[in-house]
Amino acid sequence: MGTFFLHLTVAAAVILEAQCQPQFLEYIERRLSSFENRIAVWYDQTQRYSSEYREFKNQILALVESLDKEKDEQRHNLEMATSRLERIERELDYLESRNPAPTCLEVEENLIEHTAENAKEKKKRKHMTDCAEMIFNIKAMKIVKRLETAAGLWTKDLMSDSEKVYVFDGVSNDTIYEFARLKDFTDFTGLIKGKKIKLPYPWAGTGHMVYKGFLYYIRSEPQFQVIKFDLKNHTVADSAMFPAEQQIPVYGLSPYNYIDLAADENGLWAIYATRENAKYICLARLDHKMLDIEQMWDTPCPIENAENAFVICGVLYVVYNTKLRSRSRIQCVYDVTDIVTTDQAPLVYFPKRFGAHASIKYNPMEKKLYTWDDGHQIIYRLTLKQKSEL
Ligand SMILES: *[C@@H]1O[C@H](CO)[C@@H](O)[C@H](O)[C@H]1NC(C)=O
Ligand SMILES: *[C@@H]1O[C@H](CO)[C@@H](O)[C@H](O)[C@H]1NC(C)=O
Repeated sequence: MGTFFLHLTVAAAVILEAQCQPQFLEYIERRLSSFENRIAVWYDQTQRYSSEYREFKNQILALVESLDKEKDEQRHNLEMATSRLERIERELDYLESRNPAPTCLEVEENLIEHTAENAKEKKKRKHMTDCAEMIFNIKAMKIVKRLETAAGLWTKDLMSDSEKVYVFDGVSNDTIYEFARLKDFTDFTGLIKGKKIKLPYPWAGTGHMVYKGFLYYIRSEPQFQVIKFDLKNHTVADSAMFPAEQQIPVYGLSPYNYIDLAADENGLWAIYATRENAKYICLARLDHKMLDIEQMWDTPCPIENAENAFVICGVLYVVYNTKLRSRSRIQCVYDVTDIVTTDQAPLVYFPKRFGAHASIKYNPMEKKLYTWDDGHQIIYRLTLKQKSEL
């Protein structure tokens, strides 16, 4: 699984290193087999895969062109590989022509108008505690705004009917912006309609969260603390030292995050990393009243090339990218209930490429992701399916 999705820059490095040695051909062979095996399931995912596939193919073609003519035998092998690639491409084109583009991604105009859905959502919420859903795909996206700051966080209250929107413009400051409704944020320039809230201590990173009327935010100096801040009367309701020691940045591609707070249908989570287990992401379940850690897990998800993560129904989804930006994708999954594994979970690509996601907040009531990608504020609507339907 991991090999299959090695990013193309890695592939390029392998190509250069291997200089067309058998290893390299084996590698291509593996890639080809994977592509071929997957054709059968590409009917609904053709577009996403085909663009990655085409990038890969272009690299192969460039390589073939630059090959020294003396290396005839290898050249022959590569040409065979190329013709195989071309055949796959024709098959893809055929699939694509049978499944026109909109099936993959519709940009939903009413994505943000969910007032009518509220009643339905309230009913749904009753069932949240026994949720057993996992991500199936990204159904729609909407870029709602563009700000100058490359990295930041924007979110609604993840567990209330409040229409308010909160914006953390940057990766550290002492002030946040509150908007009465989404339109006040999206329909005016910059943050002009936002009400400034000055917090008692500065915040650090983009791992903060608004949950049931409280802001839970990360303070990094003098040490890591979670501050629970009452957004009604602007007072500190509680604070707690984060109990992990020797923390390190939790996502390789967004080094300002040491602790990322998340909410799912069942409660609060902290995603973090420590020097003791320096290559992998840790996950903890938090008690939202006491801010205590109830349980912690060492996940198999690497820190390297991770850009962000979120939790749905007790499953951690880690989003990866590469230093030379490609498309973000969910490439590691960790289920605290042990039902879903990375191999079973669908590989979900984010439809557009800007930079890396500086923040991703899953809103369990709306089943949407609120994200900040290279200055773009984007909402993704998710399709979920039952874990047991695998
Ligand atoms: C917070 O951001 C504002 C606006 O970008 C900036 O003027 C101010 O200096 C920042 N404050 C801190 C404490 O970083
Ligand atoms: C702020 O409001 C909460 C309840 O909403 C209350 O318990 C707390 O005492 C209030 N704090 C102050 C300083 O008024």
